[in-house]
Amino acid sequence: MIDVTSLAKSYGDLRAVDDVSFCVNRGEAFGLLGPNGAGKSTTIHLLAGVIAPDRGKVRLDGADPQEAIVRTRLGVSPQELAIYEELTGEENLRIFAALYGLRGDALVERVHWALDFAGLTDRRKDRAAKYSGGMKRRLNLACAVVHDPELLICDEPTVGVDPQSRNHIFESIEALRASGTTLIYTTHYMSEAQRLCDRVAIMDHGKLLAADTVDALIEAHGGSSLVLAEFDEPPPADAQLPGTLDGTQLRVDSDKPFELAAELGRGPHRVRSLRVERPDLEKVFLQLTGRSLRDS
Ligand SMILES: Nc1ncnc2c1ncn2[C@@H]1O[C@H](COP(=O)(O)OP(=O)(O)O)[C@@H](O)[C@H]1O
Ligand SMILES: [Mg+2]
Repeated sequence: MIDVTSLAKSYGDLRAVDDVSFCVNRGEAFGLLGPNGAGKSTTIHLLAGVIAPDRGKVRLDGADPQEAIVRTRLGVSPQELAIYEELTGEENLRIFAALYGLRGDALVERVHWALDFAGLTDRRKDRAAKYSGGMKRRLNLACAVVHDPELLICDEPTVGVDPQSRNHIFESIEALRASGTTLIYTTHYMSEAQRLCDRVAIMDHGKLLAADTVDALIEAHGGSSLVLAEFDEPPPADAQLPGTLDGTQLRVDSDKPFELAAELGRGPHRVRSLRVERPDLEKVFLQLTGRSLRDS
């Protein structure tokens, strides 16, 4: 559905997006994961046709999203709020619906749907300026989907909101996804990418370092698992144990962690506790960039 080829955008000497290529299939949820400054928002602006690339191209079913007619097929929920604070929630949605070409009963119906989607039906007559941060975020998202787009692009939709709104936003995006909307989702929260996305692209310094399913990324770049064992008594110094022993604690990197754990459990040293840590996206990011991407 979306084809991105050798996309590049610089600001002066800074390569915000540097030779990025990927494709997204219809019905798929595709995540762009990376730290602040990685180039996620710039990529989103290029995808949405808001800015033009220096090089490369974006195609939505073969068409250029810089053409206005193509843009009506997608909805964009930008990282910076794009709502009119002086208008009510309902008025905001009516404006976005009209911009996307809805009229009459269809417009009224979709605005009602979007208010319900955002959980703002009770507050629809209040000016957006009076909304909490979370409510503004929910309205921002609702404005992006009021015209029922085939493709929804969300740029860090859950950043800086209270946990309740964060859950609401996340669950409403999951519901859209379940109903067949294609999704492009940027985040620096690994847990969100892992839960929502069929495939995840890892971005840093404008470059796309890898793109695959979470399982495949972990398989390819996650490295080995870690086995942590705690013994009842410190094993003797000449004990034949793999890994590094510190007092009663043993740490072993292993590609067969469960076999190793079973072996340790069989003795000869009595094991008090055993833990296996499988590699996760954090580890993938660390392996690919040499830096850690903190979740929260
Ligand atoms: N309009 C702009 N002018 C100058 N630099 C920009 C502009 N937009 C983004 N940048 C720079 O490009 C890099 C990528 O930014 P951005 O795409 O916003 O990253 P992310 O969304 O992953 O945090 C950053 O270093 C940012 O400062
Ligand atoms: Mg951003």
